[in-house]
Amino acid sequence: MIYLNGEWMPIEEARIPVLDRGFIFGDGVYEVIPSYSGHPFRLREHLARLQSSLDGIRLANPYTLERWEELVHEIVAKNPWEDQGVYLQVTRGVAPRDHAFPKGVKPTVFIMSNPLTTPQPGLREKGVAAVTVADNRWLRCDIKSVSLLANCLLRQSAADAGAAESVLLRDGMLTEGSASNIFVVRKDIILTPPKTNFILPGITYDVVIELARANGLPLEIRQVSEAEVRDADELWLTSSTKEVLPISTLDGKPVGHGAGAGKPGPMAARMYQLYQDFKRTVMRAPANA
Ligand SMILES: Cc1ncc(COP(=O)(O)O)c(C=O)c1O
Repeated sequence: MIYLNGEWMPIEEARIPVLDRGFIFGDGVYEVIPSYSGHPFRLREHLARLQSSLDGIRLANPYTLERWEELVHEIVAKNPWEDQGVYLQVTRGVAPRDHAFPKGVKPTVFIMSNPLTTPQPGLREKGVAAVTVADNRWLRCDIKSVSLLANCLLRQSAADAGAAESVLLRDGMLTEGSASNIFVVRKDIILTPPKTNFILPGITYDVVIELARANGLPLEIRQVSEAEVRDADELWLTSSTKEVLPISTLDGKPVGHGAGAGKPGPMAARMYQLYQDFKRTVMRAPANA
């Protein structure tokens, strides 16, 4: 079942007018919230990011925090899968095509859920291939906008090279992945760029940083140069659906040095385990927490 503007229905029955500004202009924002065994993960944080995305596009939030929480729990309960990826989207609504905002138009709200498939152990143990690509997106990458054409093009560059993700570089500095944040390990220090307008503030990024700090792993949040990315001991990508996934080759070259080159490193394995342990504590909480 999906939710569209106050009604529940099978996805095949869902319809939106062609003049929806999400369709015409990509004028909307979204969230993807993983849910494990009936427990939406970091729900408050996802809804806070939704609020800042809405603020970023100057669209009033159509619902209260409590209403969003209710709806996310409701969609999880209405769908059969143990682990789910809840997708929600708000657009500026339906109006005659004109760039400036329409007045008095109701936003369109759409929520769906899909089975959540996180990377299989085999993939994690092998790591994935990535390629570097120039980050040519706009300067508000902190807004989780449905205008994802640039990200699609960047991801396709990776797909064309037989790789899973593109690692984006802007002016010689690491930004993020086409649909993930990137962490670098060099000399036993975890490095990742700070939250600026150049990256999406990932919910998984925050969890990884919290876990590194809580477990005394050396961490520096600072600009990371292209040279440091290319000379990394380890590279990871993080996202709600990929969790913590090692990158084992970059532009066809093995990541890392010595005997471990081209293989996921020990810090990635450690962080993955910490992440799984953390998820389990969430799953032990009451389902409506
Ligand atoms: C561009 C981009 N950066 C980072 C992320 C990771 O964010 P999160 O950890 O909240 O899934 C995503 C998620 O899809 C993304 O699209």
